[in-house]
Amino acid sequence: MNIAINTGGGDAPGLNAAIRAATLAALKRGWNVYGIRNGYGSIFTDDPFVQLYPRSVRGITFQGGTILGTANRGNPFEMPYVDEDGNEKTRDVSDQLVETFDKHNIDALVAIGGDGSMRIANKLVQKGINIVGIPKTIDNDIYGCDVTLGFDTAVTTATEALDKITTTAEAHHRLMVVEVMGRYAGWIALHSGISSSADVILIPEIPFTYDSIVQKIKEREQRNRHYTMIVVAEGAKEKDGELVTKGKSVGQEVRLGGIAERVANELSERTGKESRSVVLGHLQRGGSPTTYDRLISLRFGAAAIRCIADKDFNKLVALRDNIMARVPIDEIAGKMKSVPLDSDTLQTARDIGICMGD
Ligand code: F6P
Repeated sequence: MNIAINTGGGDAPGLNAAIRAATLAALKRGWNVYGIRNGYGSIFTDDPFVQLYPRSVRGITFQGGTILGTANRGNPFEMPYVDEDGNEKTRDVSDQLVETFDKHNIDALVAIGGDGSMRIANKLVQKGINIVGIPKTIDNDIYGCDVTLGFDTAVTTATEALDKITTTAEAHHRLMVVEVMGRYAGWIALHSGISSSADVILIPEIPFTYDSIVQKIKEREQRNRHYTMIVVAEGAKEKDGELVTKGKSVGQEVRLGGIAERVANELSERTGKESRSVVLGHLQRGGSPTTYDRLISLRFGAAAIRCIADKDFNKLVALRDNIMARVPIDEIAGKMKSVPLDSDTLQTARDIGICMGD
C-alpha cells in the first residue's frame, strides 16, 4: 500500500502533528508514505514526493507550519501559469495529477486542508482518486465538523494579543479596533473576543451599524470606562455595506483585510475619541499548537489511516461531539460552517453585555 499526504491552503498549527500520526500509523501497517512537496503544484516537478520515515516525523508534534510545505495557489483544476505574453492565467491540470499518482502507484491520498482543499478533493474523487480528508483551518468554518485543527491555537494567540492591547487601550483612553482572521466566518473573533472581555465583537454573520457601536462607547464613557476594545473579523461588514478587500491574484481567492482601519477612522469621527487599529494577521497562523490542537491533530492523522485501512474512502474524518466521525466529502464540499445565530456562545456574549454591532 502506498499513500500520499498533501497539505493544501493556508498553514495551521497542528499540521505537523497530523502528518506525524498519519505517517506512523501507516508505517505501522507496513505501508509506504509519500509527502507531496508544497501542495499539488509540485506534482509536475521531477521530484514531487518525499518519502516519509519515522525519522522524518520525529519531534514535530509541537512545531507550527508544515514540514511538507503548502500553497494556496495549488488548485489542480485552476493552476496558475504565465502565458507567452506574460499574462497570468489558469488551466486544468487535474488529469496530469491523476497520471502522476498512477505512475507512482499511489493507492490513497490523505488530503489535509480547509474548505478549498475539500472542494478540490471532491473533484479528485470523481477522477478516481481514493481520498480521506482531515479538516484543517484556523477559520473553523468547515461544514460537518465541530472543530478544525489550528482553530484553538489561533484563538489562544488572538486572545493573548487582545489581553495585551486592552491594557494599552485603557492606559491611553483609546478606542482599539483589532482585526482577526476567519474569512467569512466569525469564529475566531467571537471566541477570542469573549475570552478577552472585549466590549464589541463584529462578525460576518451579523452586519453591524456604527450607531450601535457608538452607543456602546457612550454608555462606557458614562460609566467612567474611557476606552473600548472592538474585535472585528476580517469578513465583517456594515449593514448594507461591502466586504473590505485587498484584491485578488490569479488562481487565488480574494484577500480580505482593512476593515479595522475603516471602523477605527469612522468611530473617531463619530465620537471624537482617539482610535488605533491593529491587524493580527498571520501571527494567528503561526507558533506551536496548543495541547488541544496537538491532540486532535494526532487523532485526525491516525483516524485517517484507519479509514484507509477499512477502504472507507472519500470521507472526511471529523470530530462530532468528541467522537471521530467519517463524513462523505461530497456532503460537505462547497458548504461553509458559519456561527449559528442561536448558538450558546453568541448568546453568552450578549448575556454578558458585549455589543455584537446590531
Ligand atoms: O484560511 C486561513 C486564512 O488565514 C484566512 O483566515 C485568511 O483570510 C487567509 O487565510 C489569508 O491567506 P493568505 O495567507 O493567502 O494571506
